[in-house]
Amino acid sequence: MLAAEILKYTDDYSNVQDNILNEVERSTHLHTIAPQMLSGRVQGAFLTLMTSLLQAKHVLEIGTFTAYGTICLARGLYPSPESKVVTIEANPEYTFLIKKHLALAGVEDRVESLFGKAQDIISQRPETWDIVFIDANKQEYPDYYEAVIDRVRPGGLILSDNVLWSGKVVYEPNDVDARVIHRYNEMLHRDPRVQVLMLTIRDGLSIAVRK
Ligand SMILES: C[S@@+](CC[C@H](N)C(=O)[O-])C[C@H]1O[C@@H](n2cnc3c(N)ncnc32)[C@H](O)[C@@H]1O
Repeated sequence: MLAAEILKYTDDYSNVQDNILNEVERSTHLHTIAPQMLSGRVQGAFLTLMTSLLQAKHVLEIGTFTAYGTICLARGLYPSPESKVVTIEANPEYTFLIKKHLALAGVEDRVESLFGKAQDIISQRPETWDIVFIDANKQEYPDYYEAVIDRVRPGGLILSDNVLWSGKVVYEPNDVDARVIHRYNEMLHRDPRVQVLMLTIRDGLSIAVRK
């Protein structure tokens, strides 16, 4: 997508320096083989901003990984005892890092961390969501979306990550994953239940506002 130098420039000139997130980033690089999966500073700050602007109390994250995005979402929650981020991760190997990072950020009491396939868990949840952050298996995006769309409040948001797939949706439309993401983008664009705004943040982030 955007050149690395441009991404570094946006990092440098946003007020996103944060010792705790730096440590989560460092620990993720040290202990996982795919550290590039974490949201990163500008996108993380964007998640906090969205959560806080919406005064969100009920936030769902699909794909926890090492809890970088979770921490950013939790930081923006409306200050109320009922406010919570529910985050779902399919890979139990991340349990230790998730617990460690949530404790480091001091947000563990605002996060419910669940393990299993999101598709199996979402339907059992009673919440009406203010924000849903979709950031797991790209092939399954349509399933996650259909599972949550009628459980998002009017004015609530579905944020979907990686919707430009390194620019391949435009430059390499026949790439298998790019095709899946492109179909997902088309699906949201045509869905009368939402209004979509696609942003070029990081690897592309779309905002679908529930009507
Ligand atoms: C890109 S990472 C998430 C990054 C994280 N949201 C952040 O902001 O740093 C995607 C994660 O989704 C998880 N995942 C994949 N399929 C899943 C599913 N069906 N349900 C829940 N998690 C899933 C993967 O194991 C991986 O840890």
